[in-house]
Amino acid sequence: MDKMWAGRFSKQLDKFADDFNSSIKFDSRMYRQDITGSMAHAAMLGAQGIISKQDSETIIDALEDILIDIESGALAIDMNAEDIHMFVEQVLTERIGDTGKRLHTARSRNDQVALDLRLYMRDEAAEVQRLICSLMSAIVAQAEKHVDTVMPGYTHLQRAQPITFAHHLMAYAMMLERDLMRIDDAVRRMNCSPLGSCALAGTTYNTDRMMVAEKLGFDGISLNSIDGVSDRDFCIELMSDFATVMMHLSRLAEEIILWSSWEFRFVELDDSFTTGSSIMPQKKNSDMAELVRGKTGRVYGDLMALLTTLKGLPLAYNKDMQEDKEAIFDSVDTVKNCLTVFAPMIATMTVREDNMLAAAQRGFINATDLADYMVRKGMPFRSAYKTVGQIVGKCVADGRTLEQLGIDEYKQFSDVFEDDLYDDISLASCVAKRISAGGTGRESVLCQIEHIKGVLDARAE
Ligand code: ARG
Repeated sequence: MDKMWAGRFSKQLDKFADDFNSSIKFDSRMYRQDITGSMAHAAMLGAQGIISKQDSETIIDALEDILIDIESGALAIDMNAEDIHMFVEQVLTERIGDTGKRLHTARSRNDQVALDLRLYMRDEAAEVQRLICSLMSAIVAQAEKHVDTVMPGYTHLQRAQPITFAHHLMAYAMMLERDLMRIDDAVRRMNCSPLGSCALAGTTYNTDRMMVAEKLGFDGISLNSIDGVSDRDFCIELMSDFATVMMHLSRLAEEIILWSSWEFRFVELDDSFTTGSSIMPQKKNSDMAELVRGKTGRVYGDLMALLTTLKGLPLAYNKDMQEDKEAIFDSVDTVKNCLTVFAPMIATMTVREDNMLAAAQRGFINATDLADYMVRKGMPFRSAYKTVGQIVGKCVADGRTLEQLGIDEYKQFSDVFEDDLYDDISLASCVAKRISAGGTGRESVLCQIEHIKGVLDARAE
């Protein structure tokens, strides 16, 4: 079939070039947004008298039918079309003849694609946020079960101080809350309609851009038509937000992989989220977590790809910009898939409290508390710190823990030590004493859980 723009040409497009140029294979997923945008545009054309009321209504009805037919499968999207915009217009014209040819008055594919992508990304951003909330709920549910589960907290992957598993998990809930807010911000900036920018310079018709914007749920219109068709920062922002989500997931994924190893044995993933080996019968691998960690690289790559595509592009539209879609669609799909697999994986994992506690009992993670004990008895912190270092050195040499050292031995290091030190350095009391806001103490962690539950409730409304 002849291209819509064939008039100016004397030859057909080369077959391979035609395929190379076409974006239908990936932009067909925006069919709903394309049709909704066109319906709003047609309504505006009719309201402004740019086309007749009758034509406007005929177009809107036919577009509605096309949407129903695509959705029901009655109308298959033609993969030979140049893009989704051309396809919809072509079907419209086949169905209602010359009236259909009036739809593309006072717009261009340049503002049309900019509009469609914004509409599409607005929907997807909401879906990503919904999935982030599901993961946060799974995290909160686990945290609630483990407010009193003591584990070692790490720095440099060395046992550092006792914390609770709930406290550790809630750190991720806080990161995910910021991810939600970042996406809110990006959507707020993105939510203005570029339609009516036309090819780049605006139009000679008496359009009402605000009417279209309002119909489509935008907060306003882009104020410069050249920017309207050229702007893809909204994609960059969202992809950067998704990359940050993936970075967070990847850190948790890495911990889950470590915790599932025989070396740690802190958690056991449910069979439904692990795989076996083709040769080693004993293996139970955390493939889902590893894939999430791996796919993080892809989402970073998508962001880099689009940043690089846009770099140095002269205004306004250039075909390079068609490359925005594959990158952002891949980024959306990947982050959604990762969140989808992660939430139930967290919800179903078994926590090995005994192993966490056993690990906490080794590694002198109450050494800071012993120093704090000496400070409370009047010693300056630096001196206490030094003495505890010597005590730890002795314990390491003897293969003992701080709890196993007798009071007489303690007294050889300093006469501030009394029998009450043992209570003070018990793991339960180390955790309970961390009453500072945000700390690992019970009240603080419960407060964190309440906060995140509030965030989730507000978003569920
Ligand atoms: N498929 C194109 C894209 O995704 C639509 C815009 C085409 N505009 C043009 N002037 N060729 O960017």
